[in-house]
Amino acid sequence: MNGKRISTGIRGLDLMLRGGLIPGRTYLVKGAPGTGKTTLAVHFAMAGVANGEDVLYVTLEEPADNIRADMTKMGFNLNDSRFTLIDATPTSERYVLVEDFFESFAGSMEKMTQAIKEKLRERRYTRIVLDPITMLKFTSPEEIEYRRAFLSFVKSMGKMGATVLMTSEFQRTDIEEYLVSGVIELKMFDIQGTLYRGLKILKFRGSGFDHSMRPYKITSRGMVVYHDRVISLP
Ligand SMILES: Nc1ncnc2c1ncn2[C@@H]1O[C@H](COP(=O)(O)OP(=O)(O)OP(=O)(O)O)[C@@H](O)[C@H]1O
Ligand SMILES: [Mg+2]
Repeated sequence: MNGKRISTGIRGLDLMLRGGLIPGRTYLVKGAPGTGKTTLAVHFAMAGVANGEDVLYVTLEEPADNIRADMTKMGFNLNDSRFTLIDATPTSERYVLVEDFFESFAGSMEKMTQAIKEKLRERRYTRIVLDPITMLKFTSPEEIEYRRAFLSFVKSMGKMGATVLMTSEFQRTDIEEYLVSGVIELKMFDIQGTLYRGLKILKFRGSGFDHSMRPYKITSRGMVVYHDRVISLP
């Protein structure tokens, strides 16, 4: 193993990554709805908490209450004081809110960068999750602007020493994939009525990695990745 690595919280995935993620960098997890992006992100967050780190989780589409309920069922303790969950989902009752996190975080990539920088001044979060960034792209009128803002975000987080995991529902995430340090893809196949799930690392700067697609499961205890198996189709 080369250099210091941090755990994703999923043993099989750590092994595919040759020991875990390289800290202080930004990673993308992409997959269709229901593939397990949030589950993987919560594993990553809780591995930080277990390691004594402060973790910031920004949810942009699924209300925080739902994440709390679903992830508690899987055995995660989201009430740990080292874990901060920010609900940046749009709300129809904005006028009753004291703090409008939707505007400050989800308004644009620039706003997200500023809002997170501010949070980092309050506490030295070493792991940050943005789940998902899918819609942020549409807040920029021009692709070049989004690209710049995205790169500036990645650089800022690196400078502050935070490891960032972002999720996206898009199949095509070209800009993001170029600019992040690693990409993990979650796939689901329906073959003759049976559901198959497969995880593949598409890119991991600065490290060797397992290039195969490996089967994974989502269970009542979270995600399990079978690093030494192959998907056997009928
Ligand atoms: N206890 C459980 N046992 C088995 N599967 C479960 C369990 N709890 C949740 N799941 C499965 O986990 C998947 C949802 O995972 P998750 O919310 O992490 O996906 P996601 O990619 O974030 O989805 P979305 O795009 O909708 O945000 C669903 O397919 C659901 O059926
Ligand atoms: Mg999700």
